[in-house]
Formats: sequence, structure tokens, C-alpha cells
Amino acid sequence: MNVFVTGAAGFIGGSIATGLVRAGHTVTGLVRSTEQANELSALGITPVIGTLDDSALLAEQARAADAVINAASSDHRGAVEALLNALRGSGKVFLHTSGSSIVGDASGGKSSDVIYHEDSLPEPTVDKAARVAIDNLILAAAKDGVNSAVICNTLIYGHSLGVKRDSVQLPRLLKQARKSGVVRHVGTGQNIWSNVHIEDVVSLYLLALTKNVPGTFYFVESGEASFIDMTTVIAEALNLGEPQDWPLKDAEAEWGYEMANYGLGSNSRVRGKHARELLGWVPKRTSVVEWIRDEMV
Ligand SMILES: NC(=O)c1ccc[n+]([C@@H]2O[C@H](COP(=O)([O-])OP(=O)(O)OC[C@H]3O[C@@H](n4cnc5c(N)ncnc54)[C@H](OP(=O)(O)O)[C@@H]3O)[C@@H](O)[C@H]2O)c1
Repeated sequence: MNVFVTGAAGFIGGSIATGLVRAGHTVTGLVRSTEQANELSALGITPVIGTLDDSALLAEQARAADAVINAASSDHRGAVEALLNALRGSGKVFLHTSGSSIVGDASGGKSSDVIYHEDSLPEPTVDKAARVAIDNLILAAAKDGVNSAVICNTLIYGHSLGVKRDSVQLPRLLKQARKSGVVRHVGTGQNIWSNVHIEDVVSLYLLALTKNVPGTFYFVESGEASFIDMTTVIAEALNLGEPQDWPLKDAEAEWGYEMANYGLGSNSRVRGKHARELLGWVPKRTSVVEWIRDEMV
């Protein structure tokens, strides 16, 4: 297939684009700089320089492709509208990357027993309402002749297959730890996130390209862990002392409101059956703790 990928120099988009090339597909990737364009060319991806605000460019690329994967941002409504408008009535696959902070509870590091399923999503918090509205727009486009899917990733671990090596959550913990010499989690770190390895994420997107049922929402997960379990093994991997609790306000000062409250200080416990049942997805990796211990550093 001829696939247009946004965010092709990013952690998720770069991994997908590289995975597509390895699987024999032809890939055009949106990037923002000449340097990234050169890096993509070296990986066998045809670069297009532009941004998510370039609606005409996005529409042109979507019309020229057999399928579109939006992996640059879960939150850019204008880009999603431009891509959907170009794809309406085409029957082409459109895979949009969302994230499971949409069910995050901003608990400040406290645990939760609540587990969310694909068919019974909660009303979003005010902070996440805009992201959920974008997801709903994409799902609704299935009625207008778009083979659409929302691929809602959890905490992704592992190293990228593409040009940008690191994901967004665990690398923040590592950076803080390397800087201060102390591994820290938000509050007492009892909060739990579902998670998945980047290689399993890539295999899911590849399956969805040919097997998606229009209008499907997928949670992407193959395990879960509390932050204190992750910070404990990060401390061992870095040869540092016991991880320490951190007040939310200090965490916000280091990581910002969104990352401290949702990315690192919330619970996001989800279960995904659509990928397994509709796509036949079988994740190979199930332990973030093993990955941190054996491969992270
Ligand atoms: N990683 C995870 O665990 C995870 C899980 C769930 C959801 N998500 C969400 O998925 C999305 C992608 O995540 P990621 O981890 O792959 O992030 P990333 O590594 O930062 O990649 C995003 C890529 O998209 C590009 N991009 C961003 N805004 C753009 C714009 N306006 N125009 C053109 N290009 C743009 C960036 O370009 P530059 O390189 O020029 O900055 C970057 O190369 C994010 O919205 C993230 O919140 C991530």
C-alpha cells in the first residue's frame, strides 16, 4: 500500500513508518525540517515538509495515498478535519493516534480499582474533552465512507524503530533521575497505567491497515504496572537509591501540568479486546518492568 504518515520523525509515527517500509509498503511521511527529511530518506521513506496546519497539503497527500496514519498529534483538530474531508466517500483507511490519558483520573499518585473497556468509555474530564471530541469525529466518519479507527495507546515503552529513540513518559522519569540523582514518582507512586511495547504497537497499526472494521476504537495494551514498581526498577537499573515520593506541585514544576497530572500522576487502566478479536493482534511483550531491567539503559 501507499501510506501517508504524519509525525513520521516522531516516536510513534517514525516507528510505524519504518515498520511499514520493512513490510514492503510505500511510505510518504510528514516532517517539519530538512534534517528530518534527510533522516527519513535514509530509511526509505519519502519525506514531505509541512505542518499539521497546512490543510491543503494534508488533503493532497491523503488523496494521493491508499491509507493515512495520523501519528503527529492526538490533539490537533484542524489536521483531523482536513484529512477526513479529503477522505470522505473514499472508503480508505484512516488510523488516528489517541492516548489513554482520556480516562486518566489525575489522582496525584493514588491507586484506583477502576478499569475501562472500549464499549463503555467514561465522560472525559474537562482537560480531556477536546481530545475525546476529536476521537468521536473520527469514529463518526465511518458513516461517511471513511474506514476510520481511533488507536488509543497506553504508556508505550521500548526504543523507536525510527529516528527518534524515546517515548514520552518513562524518559521523563529517567531524565529527572539522571539530573538529580534521585528517582521520583508523583505522590506515593501507587497509580497504575496500562502499557505496551512500541514493536507491538507497530504490529497493531499494520494489521489495522488491512483488517480494520470502520469506526472502531482500540485500546492498545498488553500489561499494566504501578509507577512505584517502575521507579523501583529504574533506580536499580541506574544504580541509584530507593525511589522517592514527590509532592504534585514539585512534579508539576519539573514536568508541567499535563505530564505531572495525567502522564505520570494518574491511573489509566484499560483493557482492549477489539485488537485481539477483530485484528488477531497477539502482543509479544507483556512486562514493562522486565524491559526497564533488561533493555532500557
Ligand atoms: N508515546 C506514548 O506513549 C503515547 C501514548 C499515547 C498517545 N501519545 C500521543 O501520540 C502523539 C504522538 O506521540 P509521540 O510519542 O510519537 O510524540 P513525538 O515523539 O513528539 O512525535 C510527534 C511527531 O509529530 C510531529 N508534530 C507534532 N506537531 C506537529 C505539527 N503541528 N505539524 C507537523 N508535525 C508535528 C513532531 O515534530 P517535531 O519533531 O518537529 O517536533 C514529532 O516528530 C502525541 O499526541 C502523544 O500525546 C503518545
